Amino acid sequence: MFKVAVIGASGLVGRALVEELAQQADWQVVSTGFRRAGPHSITLDIRDAAAVKQFVEREAPNAIVIAAAERRPDICEHNPALARALNVDAVRSVAEAAKQRGAWVLSISTDYVFDGAHPPYRYDAQPSPLNAYGRSKLDGERALTETTDFGCVLRLPLLYGPIVDWAESAVTSLVPAIAASASASPGTKAAVMDAWAIRYPTFTPDVAYVIRQMLERHARGEAIRGIVQWSGDEPMTKYEIAIRLAGALRVEARLTPQHTPTDATPRPHNCHLDSSRLEALGIGRRTPFDTAIRQVLEKFPWLASDVRNTA
Ligand SMILES: NC(=O)c1ccc[n+]([C@@H]2O[C@H](COP(=O)([O-])OP(=O)(O)OC[C@H]3O[C@@H](n4cnc5c(N)ncnc54)[C@H](OP(=O)(O)O)[C@@H]3O)[C@@H](O)[C@H]2O)c1
Repeated sequence: MFKVAVIGASGLVGRALVEELAQQADWQVVSTGFRRAGPHSITLDIRDAAAVKQFVEREAPNAIVIAAAERRPDICEHNPALARALNVDAVRSVAEAAKQRGAWVLSISTDYVFDGAHPPYRYDAQPSPLNAYGRSKLDGERALTETTDFGCVLRLPLLYGPIVDWAESAVTSLVPAIAASASASPGTKAAVMDAWAIRYPTFTPDVAYVIRQMLERHARGEAIRGIVQWSGDEPMTKYEIAIRLAGALRVEARLTPQHTPTDATPRPHNCHLDSSRLEALGIGRRTPFDTAIRQVLEKFPWLASDVRNTA
């Protein structure tokens, strides 16, 4: 039986992937989490190389997906040692264990490996990260490709999907400010939203579908190697995302666009990822943003109605 290990199954991407793979009746899936490991998953600290090796030897998967990481740019900027431990060293230990076992390994990376000045970026474009998060993820890509050639890096842009709280995704993290602006009395300040950086919000169930298609290729003996990228195709600033979110939430938000960057951590302007390498293999799915965001809000009606009640 084809066996897949999902490392970091408790996170935004990991949960969507486990849900997608559950539809594959003839596959076995083993999941790991860390602080939020649930009853159906194994607790694994990927900073512990010996534990990683033991896990891979014991479970003997055919494929490993690394969805565990430190993905918050501000935390990486302030704690580069943690960023390295999770985003570089842990990727190397998983890749080493995978190589010994003969397992194909897929590691998730980010559009932040690029500086955002010359989009779109092909998979073979020169990376030039602007912040500690991007640097750690680029080093993680290299750790994987230097350790094993039986593996793949999948770069992704800003993600959103089924959440456990608004803060889990940089898309839904805008909701509290949208709600507060809708409930504020006339004359108070509107919520300021970034209208400078261009993002391509990408739906995690679509990412999960893409990863399943990649796993299917490996199961057929046609494993993809090297670097691939997947991205939604609707460019939006956070200001535009906030307007769409307010529409989906049916609240009258009062928003002001901010046309210059204000983040303490430097962030790229536009890292549009070219997805053509996967598209050429017939891989991909893009749910339109307005449809997908409504699906997210419908899954959490209590969260959305809290917002409407506040507004
Ligand atoms: N979110 C985005 O917008 C975005 C955009 C581009 C690329 N990416 C990339 O996509 C991948 C997945 O990101 P995500 O958004 O799903 O992240 P996430 O929601 O923050 O989840 C992170 C995962 O890492 C696990 N983890 C943290 N520390 C760990 C440790 N010491 N040992 C083992 N597991 C640990 C967490 O487990 P517990 O929660 O159980 O502790 C969780 O499962 C990352 O590689 C990220 O860089 C994300």
